[in-house]
Amino acid sequence: MLNIDLEGKVALVTGGNSGLGEASVKALSNCGAKVAICHLPSQAESANLVLDQLERASDEAICVPVDISSYGSVREMYDTIDKTFQRVDVLVNNAGIDGPRKELVDADISKWEEVIKVNLFGATYCAKEALLRMKKQSSGIIINMTSVHEYIAWSGYSAYTASKAALSMLTKTLAQEAGRYHVRVIAVAPGAIKTPINKDVWSQPSSLSDLDEKILLGRPGEPEEIGNVIAFLASPLASYITGTTLVVDGGMLDYPAFVHGG
Ligand code: BGC
Repeated sequence: MLNIDLEGKVALVTGGNSGLGEASVKALSNCGAKVAICHLPSQAESANLVLDQLERASDEAICVPVDISSYGSVREMYDTIDKTFQRVDVLVNNAGIDGPRKELVDADISKWEEVIKVNLFGATYCAKEALLRMKKQSSGIIINMTSVHEYIAWSGYSAYTASKAALSMLTKTLAQEAGRYHVRVIAVAPGAIKTPINKDVWSQPSSLSDLDEKILLGRPGEPEEIGNVIAFLASPLASYITGTTLVVDGGMLDYPAFVHGG
């Protein structure tokens, strides 16, 4: 029987206190990994709630506050992880924001920059520090959470789409750089998954039915459907996957509008 076994591995998940990060933390922990639930300093409460739900010994999971848009804060986060676990096997670069929905002509440029700073700079800082450690270990996996919006344009969210497309190319380039020291770098591109980031859309019947029509399977995904994929990719079962994006979107990218007519 195939088994996702992450026993003895140390996984770090940014934005691990909610949404896809929370689902990733739970899946990785269920498969035996030790986990660092990295969260914004203001979100310690929800991070601790996630920690309490894990069926692991208390020394096998920790919460670590971090503002990933600051390289100094990222380095402090890694100091804590070094002291606690002495290694990093899996980095899930999950933390991200979408920013206010505004066309660029009307956008507040500092809000636009903030999205890039968190989604792209933040993921880059976390990846750099992970690679330093993984290179020494000669092993490791970095998983960057992108989105179908690394491919699909989205009016009002130019910073978000640009950050996700950039993260996709960062993934491919880092995979080239890290392959020779046996580190895999992969992007996961979720479609519409029921998380707090899009709750205003999936929680209301009218916008939910509009959303369902954009998906071949006719429904948004559950966070666990991404968490399971993260655990698989982090495991030896995915040992030959690197430098690519795995789309997990219920068929959102496959032109659902063409099911009828065209
Ligand atoms: C966004 C969600 C959106 C989904 C599909 C994700 O990247 O965060 O808000 O529902 O893409 O459009």
